[in-house]
Amino acid sequence: DGKKTLFSGMQATGTLTLGNYLGALKNWVALEEEYQCFYCVVDLHSITVRQDPAELRKRARALLTLYIAAGLNPEKNCIYYQSHVSGHAELSWILNCFTYMGELNRMTQFKDKSAKHADNINAGLYTYPVLMAADILLFQSDVVPVGSDQKQHLEITRDIAERFNGIYGDVFTIPEPYIGKQGARIMSLQDPEKKMSKSDENANASIYLMDDTDTIIRKFKRAVTDSDNEIHYSEDKPGIRNLIDIYAATTGKSISDIEKEFANTGYGDFKLAVGEAVADLLKPIQDRFEELQKDKAYIDGIIKANAEKANYYSLKTLRKVQKKVGF
Ligand code: ADP
Ligand code: NA
Repeated sequence: DGKKTLFSGMQATGTLTLGNYLGALKNWVALEEEYQCFYCVVDLHSITVRQDPAELRKRARALLTLYIAAGLNPEKNCIYYQSHVSGHAELSWILNCFTYMGELNRMTQFKDKSAKHADNINAGLYTYPVLMAADILLFQSDVVPVGSDQKQHLEITRDIAERFNGIYGDVFTIPEPYIGKQGARIMSLQDPEKKMSKSDENANASIYLMDDTDTIIRKFKRAVTDSDNEIHYSEDKPGIRNLIDIYAATTGKSISDIEKEFANTGYGDFKLAVGEAVADLLKPIQDRFEELQKDKAYIDGIIKANAEKANYYSLKTLRKVQKKVGF
């Protein structure tokens, strides 16, 4: 139909955080009416670093299940595994031949990752951005929701697509960053100058979507604040500001209403209220996750149907590209 296409990929390397939920996932649920959405579990990207196979399989399935539990309708959104759609790898190879070493040398994420995995600087890590370009271009995606750390990847995707189109005519849609209603930006509970991230090594810095109520409350109680003890939203008090942002995004209340509601309380009581609100928000998602995990046949069916759907759309692009280059 006439809907624009939205693509997003996700790694199954860590557990999703409250930041991923309030900043992205929660808002994606509303996009299914306006866009044809593809949410890919990017397991081809995952093996650029060594993985335990059983563990990777488990985490990939948990991620896909969690997306559904968080509200993405798997009949309206194509939630699938990258490794089930061979077009990703095939297009990636072709695009490799239209990407310059110099461009890849400039990618900051490669520099970071090769410093982190110095014992395994493999070619896949180096050509990672080309696979990402293939992911996006394979579906003729119009928009891609990108975090600030992924802007460079979308830029190189556009450059590769424009180069290819320049040679062969209009083959690829040139993707734009998705600029819609922005979700809340959630910061680390231990260092509120840093964003909350699933790759943070300090487990107390993040609320994970599967954390139980006690853990959530304990983490909020330990959240770094200042010594003011006043529930007041201010630019130079990032700790309490982050907690107010989280409470606002979780409950839908405005910042000024929150300041009024907690005018006569201190940080301790407020932290407890935030913890309880977040636990209440996550509980139905966790219950649904448990339920879905038990229904193996249902999830298997979703995985199979969505792989077929993704294959169908990917082949349209792939055939066109293959013909252009002379296959
Ligand atoms: P992470 O840093 O947790 O690995 P990603 O970079 O994989 O997160 O981002 C996945 C999605 O979640 C992106 O759309 C990103 O903008 C969003 N996101 C990640 N962390 C946060 C955060 N702390 N606050 C708001 N949104 C976030
Ligand atoms: Na990241």
